[in-house]
Amino acid sequence: AQDLRTRILNVNKMTAKYYYYQLRTENGRQAMEYLKNRCLSDETIRSFGLGYSNKYSNDLYLYLKKQGVSDELLRESGLMNVDERNGMYDKFWNRVIFPIMDVNNRVIGFGGRVMGDGKPKYLNSPETAVFDKSRNLYGLNVARTARKKSMLVCEGYMDVISMHQAGFKNSVASLGTALTTQHASLLKRYTDEVILTYDSDGAGIKAALRAIPMLKAAGISTRVLHMNPYKDPDEFIKTLGPEAFQERMDQAENSFLFEISILERDFDMHDPEGKTGFYQAVARKLMEFDQELERENYIQAVAERYQISFDSLRKMVNREAMRG
Ligand code: CTP
Ligand code: MN
Ligand code: MN
Ligand code: MN
Ligand code: MN
Repeated sequence: AQDLRTRILNVNKMTAKYYYYQLRTENGRQAMEYLKNRCLSDETIRSFGLGYSNKYSNDLYLYLKKQGVSDELLRESGLMNVDERNGMYDKFWNRVIFPIMDVNNRVIGFGGRVMGDGKPKYLNSPETAVFDKSRNLYGLNVARTARKKSMLVCEGYMDVISMHQAGFKNSVASLGTALTTQHASLLKRYTDEVILTYDSDGAGIKAALRAIPMLKAAGISTRVLHMNPYKDPDEFIKTLGPEAFQERMDQAENSFLFEISILERDFDMHDPEGKTGFYQAVARKLMEFDQELERENYIQAVAERYQISFDSLRKMVNREAMRG
């Protein structure tokens, strides 16, 4: 007998094909319209293997049973909801489907989006024997072949897909979870530089602040792309186009300068005391750099950005260093 992982991968493959086919039937017309309305081309829809799970919630179950899949295997696959009254039925019913591939292009799980404002907006496969979302990045199967200097890391399915469609094929998403140390080491296999393209809202900023030290610990240097006034890469690209996005990429700010621009919000910069407090906090943060030259380069960058004197800032850093 095949092992559980192989059997789940096999069920996932059948399921992905089933959803893919459904999107192209009469049942899938609304879903296809939804994707077109979100400006995805036929080619993009095809290459990401997007699909639709129809609104007859036990169709997938019946289909897989016909293929000889056991109830036990279906439970292990995470594709079904089980309830007393209805038995097993498709967890993703009536959603647009995003198959999630590993780096070897095997389908390890699925995401499903409602086509309107329903909640929850996205459903994802649970952890299974083949799906561990803390170790996989959506889009990495393609991004790893893009041969670009850096990787773009974003939040969501649609962000990855829009960026790829716009030609930025070096983009991946951590899918609703915070970036993990495992994600960081996975990225390090392919790149030394990450450009964070998280959403511009509070959650996205928080996620960026958590990701930066993790990437640094993995030996990756990070820059942060300014998405303002747009919410995420998908919206940005849809509104301003690929050239403008490329410009923002080129201007993406060093992660340290990003961190202190967020730190700045805790201080009243119109008040001398507030300002001093801020520079002290920056000076403490500058102590993170234990190589003298690197530290001096950052002192220089901060001094320039805030129009203060290099020497005063350096003295402040040294004072903080002596305090320990
Ligand atoms: N997410 C999730 N469950 C939710 C909301 C979000 O798993 N209820 C994950 C999805 O992977 C989603 C990502 O977090 O792609 C980012 O969430 P969000 O920014 O809210 O959604 P968008 O990707 O912008 O979705 P869309 O553009 O389709 O509205
Ligand atoms: Mn978000
Ligand atoms: Mn978003
Ligand atoms: Mn979005
Ligand atoms: Mn800024």
